[in-house]
Amino acid sequence: MDNIILIGFMGAGKTTVGRLLAEKNNMTHMDFDDKIEEMTGCTIQEIFNEHGEAAFRQLEHEFLRDFSLNNHVVSTGGGIVLMKKNREILKKMPPVVYLKADPDIFIDRLKQDKTTIRPLVATKAPAEVKDVYLPRVKYYEESATFSVDTSSLSPEEVTAAILEKIKKLGL
Ligand code: S3P
Repeated sequence: MDNIILIGFMGAGKTTVGRLLAEKNNMTHMDFDDKIEEMTGCTIQEIFNEHGEAAFRQLEHEFLRDFSLNNHVVSTGGGIVLMKKNREILKKMPPVVYLKADPDIFIDRLKQDKTTIRPLVATKAPAEVKDVYLPRVKYYEESATFSVDTSSLSPEEVTAAILEKIKKLGL
């Protein structure tokens, strides 16, 4: 089985859905942020604080560029689509699934998630989070094979919708 790559803004459900999707489909789940933390021995927050966002983006790019495994569900970081070269790589890795959500929904999910520190939104008001999100929408759309709106769906329903779409498209 080919890989399934999940993209979308922070709080869209990439990690939760990625785990479920892998379990249901007998695949292995991989979270790029976790891998970057494992490889560097630093948290994402430490990388941002000590080396800056550009250094993090470079590591993220190298992970995507060098990814050569099969049968994986990959949960990417929400900013992976910012680099043009990443968008070009993603376009060649179908199925890439864009998990969409209404901004008010992911802002709420981000508020509730006390376990993950996300440097780009940690201290931002909701309107500022939207300012981070809006310029990215076109990049998510451009990179994705198809999208699923997760706003009113449970992770199980999102998983089922993804599998149905993959089957329908013959991917
Ligand atoms: C980021 C998203 C985060 C993480 C980093 C930057 C972003 O991943 O990669 O904090 O720029 O959107 P999640 O989308 O898994 O939260």
